[in-house]
Amino acid sequence: MTVFRLEQIEDGGFAEVQWQVGGASESVIVHRDGDTARAWLNICPHAGRPLEAAPGHFVKTRDGHLMCAAHGASFELQGGECVAGPCRGQHLVAVPVEVRDGEVRQL
Ligand code: FES
Repeated sequence: MTVFRLEQIEDGGFAEVQWQVGGASESVIVHRDGDTARAWLNICPHAGRPLEAAPGHFVKTRDGHLMCAAHGASFELQGGECVAGPCRGQHLVAVPVEVRDGEVRQL
């Protein structure tokens, strides 16, 4: 498993990592929120595409949501719920993580 340091992500920003999730290698979005982090599979519930606009580059809306670059679905960053766009009410799949000793680790 790739372990990386929280400080590698700017506060409020995102990183894309390749982790083993449920026995498969998956692209995972890690979001930094101050001293904590949250993570989701990089799979949009609308049409199953990755969310980034370019490799490792995720779009954040003016109101602080993560926007899928494919068709504009916007996700709030607490529970990963789609709050606007074509899959409103659906959720990104959470990947449990913790920050310990400054490192983001998958639980
Ligand atoms: S695949 Fe994300 S909005 Fe369509």
